[in-house]
Formats: sequence, structure tokens, C-alpha cells
Amino acid sequence: MIFPWYDSHWHSAYQAVFGFLQTEYPTRVDDFVNALLPLHTRKDFKPIIAHDILSTATLSEANAVIAGIGIGDWEVHEVESFGRLVLHDHPYFSDLQQRLTEQVSDMVNEEVVPSYSFLSIYNGRGVCEPHLDNPVAKWTLDIPLDASAVWPIYISSVSEWPTEDACTEDWQSSIKSSFSFDAFELASGSGLVFSGSSQWHYRNPAPIEPNFYNHLIFFHYVPTAMQGLVDPLAWSDYFGIAEIGEIIRVFQE
Ligand SMILES: [Fe+2]
Repeated sequence: MIFPWYDSHWHSAYQAVFGFLQTEYPTRVDDFVNALLPLHTRKDFKPIIAHDILSTATLSEANAVIAGIGIGDWEVHEVESFGRLVLHDHPYFSDLQQRLTEQVSDMVNEEVVPSYSFLSIYNGRGVCEPHLDNPVAKWTLDIPLDASAVWPIYISSVSEWPTEDACTEDWQSSIKSSFSFDAFELASGSGLVFSGSSQWHYRNPAPIEPNFYNHLIFFHYVPTAMQGLVDPLAWSDYFGIAEIGEIIRVFQE
């Protein structure tokens, strides 16, 4: 992996192919960069708060759905690293995500479609180190659903990529000092739209308080026009360069 952060395999694949083309197929670099340009985020984009994007009734319903999820249904692979149980694409939340699509398209000023949703149930060991998301989640609508205490998310200004910013040993502090970050604290049922694939984001360790919890739903969206090309596995055929496929396989999760 070229980059060290969580969910970095896409950016690592991009960087590797970019470097390969510069060396081996310099005349194709512009084709590659331009084809993927719609996955970049405009430089002046700032996170958008959508107050009460969920009605009180929907918020109650969503929390009842979470309470009804069996303990064995949760994914536990991020308990150690993030202090959270997670669940992808629960049908209730996929339906809710679908209904919010038009609103998100309007907010980000481009047509999007849902890519996946992600429930996160944080406990007192919650933390989220700085990272950029895979651009299949170019846009995130983050909605707190229930919490015992406020717990801000920090979001940076828009970052360019490919990036060399995160290659040093102390990359986390370097990221935190080289970008300006804003803290966002939202009430349950309000939403925050940001571009996680181009805006660094993190949460500090959860506040120390007994029985801390924070329940969040992340709705991820991808530009409609980029659905066919966002997956690096599509690049080899699209650009007609077989070696790209070999490079990409290294970066598959
Ligand atoms: Fe993220």
C-alpha cells in the first residue's frame, strides 16, 4: 500500500497507475487524469449542514430499527481499531438513503446515486484517525441518530490528489497541521454533507464519561456519471492497457 490511512487502497491504486503511466505511457496520463476528474471535489466546497433532515418520526423509527438489530448481526471487525460495531446496507437505511438522494444531489450540485450505507455504533473507546475515503463515497451524508454526549467530527478543506502529504512517518500530525479543519457537532436527526474522498476527516478519542455511546449513519453517494469508472478494476479495459490490471490487483482489499 502506498498510503497508510484507513480506506486508502483506492488512492494508492490511483497513485500507482498515475506513476506507471508517467513512466511507461506518458501520452496517456492526461486521458487517465481527465477521465477520473469528476471524482475530484471542487476546491471551494465546504461541508453543508442540513438541520433536521430526518423528521422526529423518522428519527424514532430509525432508532427503533437499530435497537431491533440482533447482536450477532453486527460486523465486529472495527471494534478494536475504531471502538465501533458497524453494519453495511441495512434494508431500512438503504431505503432511507434512496429517498434522500435528490436532496443530496441538490446540495452538492451534481447528480449522485447511493453507493452504500454504513451504520456505526460507537462505544467509549471510539476514535477515528484522519483519512480520506474511497471516491465511491465521494459524498457522505453523515447523520447522528442518538448520542450520550457531543463528539465533533473534524473536516479539512478540500485536498488535491494524487497527494504526497501522508507519506511521512508522522503523517497524522502532518495532515492535521497542513490543512485547516473545522469541527462540526450536530444534533440527532440533522445531517452533514461533506466530500470524504477529498476532505480529510477524523474524530478525537471519545469523551471520557461512563457509558458513552454515539450512533451514526453514513450515507455514501457517487456521481451518477462515474458509476462505471469509479472501480479501479474497470480501468484496464477502459484505457486499453493490460498492465493497469496487474497494478490494480495489488491494491484490492
Ligand atoms: Fe471516512
